[in-house]
Amino acid sequence: MNSHKIKTLITKERIQERIAELSKEIQKDFEGRDPLIVSILKGSFVFCSDLIRHLNPEYKVDFIMVKSYIGTQSSGEVKIISDVKTNIEGKDILIVDDIADTGVTIDFLRKTFLERGASSVKVCVLLDKKDRRVVDTSVEYKCFDIPNYFIVGFGLDYNDLYRGLPFVGILEQI
Ligand code: IMP
Ligand code: MG
Repeated sequence: MNSHKIKTLITKERIQERIAELSKEIQKDFEGRDPLIVSILKGSFVFCSDLIRHLNPEYKVDFIMVKSYIGTQSSGEVKIISDVKTNIEGKDILIVDDIADTGVTIDFLRKTFLERGASSVKVCVLLDKKDRRVVDTSVEYKCFDIPNYFIVGFGLDYNDLYRGLPFVGILEQI
């Protein structure tokens, strides 16, 4: 038995409203281009699947799975567990992630894709915990700024639990 209380922070209606709004902005910026959307697994697959249904259906989507190790230093180390299958060279990349926390993952992937010859790399996240940032990295598109709570739902997990919740909630230990 898991004994967690989950308190709603952002309702499913508000999430859907905001995704529709943000996708208009993204669509406008990528007009006339052919971006590659890269969804970071596992956390972003729920957000990404809703987002792409508001975007040009001709946009291609690929996936990358990473693990971040935060050591005793403030900067963590990121390892690619499963890579994209697409050649990144010359592509306009839109990285989609669930949450920008320390910023280590996003910073690593942005640099990796630029090193592989991407023309441009932009980042889109569902949530931004700005106060937790240890790496100075930019986030071009975000749905919500949130305070430093531990969040679950809408793709985000605690020990692989709660990804399927349709809302964003704060995990409270009982
Ligand atoms: P980073 O610290 O910005 O590199 O974020 C690494 C990853 O940690 C995110 O993509 C999430 O998968 C995970 N993460 C960060 N904060 C939370 C949280 O509040 N709940 C669940 N996962 C989180
Ligand atoms: Mg993640």
